[in-house]
Amino acid sequence: MPTRMNAIIGLGLLIPSVAATNSPLQTRLDDGLALTPQMGWNTYNHYNCFPNEAIVRSNAQALVDLGLDSLGYRTVTIDCGWSVADRLADGSLTWNETLFPSGFPKIGQYLHDLELLFGVYGDSGIKLCGSPPDNVGSLDHEEQDAKTFAEWEADSLKYDNCYSDEATNFPNVNYQPSTSPQPRFEIMSRALQAQDRPMLFQVCEWGIDFPANWAPALGHSWRIGNDIIPAWRAIFRTLNQAVPQTSYAGPGQWPDLDMLMVGNGVFSQAEEQTHFSLWAILKSPLTIGAALKDDTTAISKGSLQVLTNEDVIAFNQDKLGVSASLRRRWSDEGFEVWSGPLEGGKTVAAVINWRNESRDLTLDLPDVGLQSAGVLRDVWGEAMERGVRTSYTARVEGHGTMLVELDETTPAGEYSTALFGRKNGQGTSFQSIYALTTSANYGITINFAQPVSSATNITLRTSASKQTYSTEIPASAHQVTLQAPLIAGSNNTITVWHHQTAIDSVQVTPPNGTYYPGAKFILHGDAKQVTCGEGFCQPVGSKIGNLAANSTAHAVIAASSSGSKYVELDYINNEVALDSAWGWGANSRNLTLAVNGGLPVRLEVPLSGRHSELFGPGQGWWDTGSLGVLTSGWKDGENEVVIGNVGGEKGFQALAPDFVGMRIYD
Ligand code: GAL
Repeated sequence: MPTRMNAIIGLGLLIPSVAATNSPLQTRLDDGLALTPQMGWNTYNHYNCFPNEAIVRSNAQALVDLGLDSLGYRTVTIDCGWSVADRLADGSLTWNETLFPSGFPKIGQYLHDLELLFGVYGDSGIKLCGSPPDNVGSLDHEEQDAKTFAEWEADSLKYDNCYSDEATNFPNVNYQPSTSPQPRFEIMSRALQAQDRPMLFQVCEWGIDFPANWAPALGHSWRIGNDIIPAWRAIFRTLNQAVPQTSYAGPGQWPDLDMLMVGNGVFSQAEEQTHFSLWAILKSPLTIGAALKDDTTAISKGSLQVLTNEDVIAFNQDKLGVSASLRRRWSDEGFEVWSGPLEGGKTVAAVINWRNESRDLTLDLPDVGLQSAGVLRDVWGEAMERGVRTSYTARVEGHGTMLVELDETTPAGEYSTALFGRKNGQGTSFQSIYALTTSANYGITINFAQPVSSATNITLRTSASKQTYSTEIPASAHQVTLQAPLIAGSNNTITVWHHQTAIDSVQVTPPNGTYYPGAKFILHGDAKQVTCGEGFCQPVGSKIGNLAANSTAHAVIAASSSGSKYVELDYINNEVALDSAWGWGANSRNLTLAVNGGLPVRLEVPLSGRHSELFGPGQGWWDTGSLGVLTSGWKDGENEVVIGNVGGEKGFQALAPDFVGMRIYD
């Protein structure tokens, strides 16, 4: 089980990414269930808390008729609204007989006869969510209810968190309870395990106590956040919440991004593709939340095409079970890149177009740790390309996503002569050389096909300058390394002359960069330095907080050449959108970086917290996240760098994330 998603493999391979978590995977329930994310259908997103038997039967039948069952969508869950206010005389739970005249056991039987699975819904409080009409909850009746669910032959339980906070007299929701929901979920988990029927357990406490840290020991999935809402902005909000916990996904333990809105008529087809693609590659359970078929509705062809895309489903159900993670985000330009490994050495990558206009977007393979792909399959673009070197460009619809599978790949920084080289007079020139940053300090290693026979000179030049770089190679050397400049981008050329021995490949190693801790910056306005608990706010131990719109942190930073530099920003954001999830909460904050008085580059950072915002160390405000941006306007010599929150007063969040420090790749 990999504990770090974004391992940096090998020399010079720089994968820009959000810092890997320092939390190893927790012990998990190891009962063989949910080895890949569960898939199914649930009443809630379309029918709200008004399910009934006809709805369940017709949609279940439609799962079969439309072939969705054979693609994996098998669990049919009846969400809120199914029950009644009172328990039976013997204290057991029962269904609403008006809504479900044949009763739950019969409905379970009906689903099983269709070779589907029966999902039930309960609550860890005194009532189910969506009450009134009052539906009794499972608090203090866990054992009896688990037994009842098993008797009904349920296959899974979605367990919710409404009316659960005793300290505040059981309100519908309390997003800031004084005690953790965890013990209540643990009691139900144990009660389920005591039954002689395996039942998948879905923890649904809306991410209020960072369940990634404890839910894997109790169940098979956990909701990472508050409910999805029928609005496009819910996608960005959800992804921002997923960012710090992608590394917690694994067989038997899945971060649940919530049920799908595909087919509910709220998104364009491109938006549905984005929603479905990202849920799939982040290994969320895939639960259809649309009306497939009932008396008045049938799912549209377009939405069905999205839900039945077998490539996307295969990414979700990939046996490796590793989630994609966020690699790069260009906030000003409105796009971002996610990727992750698949079984058999393949990689999946997604480029999301946040702008609502169709345009060409480019995936630079080094952003996902690769240099070339023997085969690239563009899933929504329905294209296939062979021999892809460094970059792939395609038209992406407004709010759409370029979703590609890369196979037969080589690692970033490695340029074989066979793929990238071309004979050029007395030498060899290598094309499509990628540079993360503009720097004179790239290491360029030339690997010879065989050891050189006698001492000789070698000369190279890059497209970044007119200068040539030479060195002597001793006899029998296999390789030689020179230092040379490259310009940020994917179109550099390296030409090597006068080599008698054939070159096998060229390896390009970017500079390591220099770290500037926030503690060394000079603060203006309301910005304040905050010391963190031992071992937190990595790698500095402190951070700059309270970066309001008029507040800044300044530093003078030396660079050894002019141009655009890649800067990795270490930030902290644990402003979790709970109440605000119903409105405009985005789980993001705005950070800007300006060099020498130029236009600031904006980065809308996602959450970084990997501990509970209620009870964790520093309330999760000590966990560093990291994302890189390309910043222009650097000079050879001293540079004025300003970290701030330009325009923050106009955004949803008036404060920037806390700033820990930055690494400049020069
Ligand atoms: C919420 C839950 C939703 C849905 C709803 C029913 O708490 O997160 O997924 O079950 O309750 O009212």
